[in-house]
Amino acid sequence: MRVTTNPPSMVKPSQQSWSGRIALSELDQTGMTTHVPTIYFYARSSENWKSFLQTLINSVATTLVHFYPLAGRLVSTAGGRLELNCNAAGVQFTEAYADVKLADLDDFMRHPIFDQLIPSVDYRHTSLEEMPLLLLQVTRFQCGGWSLGFCISHVVVDGQSALHFLSEWARVCRGEPLGPPPYLDRKVLRAGDPPATSFNKSIEQHAQSSPPPNLLGQSSNENERNKETTVTMLKLTETLVRKLQHQANKNKKSKSSRNFTRYEVVTAHAWRTACKIRNLEPEQPTSIGVCIDIRSRMNPPLPDKYFGNAIIDMIATGTSCEIVSETLGYVSSKIRDAIEKVNDEFVNSVIDFLKNQEDLSKFQDLHLAKDDEGPFYGNPNLGVISWITLPMYGIDFGWGKEIFTGPGTDDAEDGDFLVLRGEEGDGSLILALCLQVRHMEDFRRVLYQSIEED
Ligand code: COA
Repeated sequence: MRVTTNPPSMVKPSQQSWSGRIALSELDQTGMTTHVPTIYFYARSSENWKSFLQTLINSVATTLVHFYPLAGRLVSTAGGRLELNCNAAGVQFTEAYADVKLADLDDFMRHPIFDQLIPSVDYRHTSLEEMPLLLLQVTRFQCGGWSLGFCISHVVVDGQSALHFLSEWARVCRGEPLGPPPYLDRKVLRAGDPPATSFNKSIEQHAQSSPPPNLLGQSSNENERNKETTVTMLKLTETLVRKLQHQANKNKKSKSSRNFTRYEVVTAHAWRTACKIRNLEPEQPTSIGVCIDIRSRMNPPLPDKYFGNAIIDMIATGTSCEIVSETLGYVSSKIRDAIEKVNDEFVNSVIDFLKNQEDLSKFQDLHLAKDDEGPFYGNPNLGVISWITLPMYGIDFGWGKEIFTGPGTDDAEDGDFLVLRGEEGDGSLILALCLQVRHMEDFRRVLYQSIEED
């Protein structure tokens, strides 16, 4: 089984686009600052593959005229800060061929060629100024099906913005006019002038302000980071999700407060399961990282189609004993409390706090060459990111909707969890997760068993 790739080329915007430097917001430059890999599989393509490829290339070039930041490059400036140089250097495009049929990839994510279908960034050998912000790989399979693997810089976009670009590219590829344009002015998320020096008292729950704890007795997370990991996708049927919701809502603090959402209960259940199977000491501190979209939490809300990072990472913390022995409702409310702290005042406080930092690089994970840098949500922690509301399904480039989409797994670390929507219209959810190999089987067993038992 092999994937053969042609040498990559750079696709530039098809017309001259604005050039110059854009200041990034503090939220763009902190948290996850690497590229995010994702893949789409399609069963059908045109008989004329070369002409279809050209249509994909031409339409991405047209779409980039409007989404020109993606064709630029990052530049580092004083204090570990980054700027976006809109220089139309282009996005990387790779054409590839796999000597298998799509039907041979029964479990997409765990198939040996999966990682070869998504382009990756060589952080060790590419300078920041040369690093493409968007890398695309289109792979044709023997059956005529194809996949689109892409890797997009989290400094430039969050999930909502990445999918805005992708759905507009697909629209242009289908021959339709561009839909709502991106809102490119990041100054709506700028710090106060001067930035405040006293902060919201909940700032310690902002993930970049307080790194997650290490295992007791260990001064760094290096040991845990270096353990072998594996990935999987676990489906939680609507019935299982409803059972969890029922169980958590029984123990709500007050009857009048709103019911826990699917995300809150599934995340709480995953946290409890991880604490149980990792055999943590009862007094072991453990944190859960949650990513929150701030678009509708700002006052006024951010402009529609704000293009950039409009997310904040928060953490909830407890001891392992507390998370395991308290009720699901209690653990869910810890997660909810962290989410509910995020309002306009809190976000501005975080931005000012970050603006006041002399060196922002300690809040970034750009430098993957050093093993102990960047936030680590592995043992004894978890990071559970919701993709439930991301418009990731139904991306049609003119030959039908995808048959499968999911996250890439190449750079996944222990404790990285994503919660995805199950099939359209049903209330099921999918956990895409990475854990240490020694923990995965126990996690899978206890995750399901403990829902049935409760
Ligand atoms: N249409 C219809 N109903 C919706 C909806 C939509 N677009 N969005 C939310 N709802 C309803 C759902 O019924 C949901 O409850 P349910 O899942 O139990 O059915 C309820 O509103 C609450 O949804 P939400 O406000 O999204 O809360 P949550 O607990 O599911 O998620 C956060 C909490 C913090 C994860 C979520 O608000 C958020 O910010 N998600 C985006 C994270 C993100 O940006 N990820 C990508 C990072 S790059």
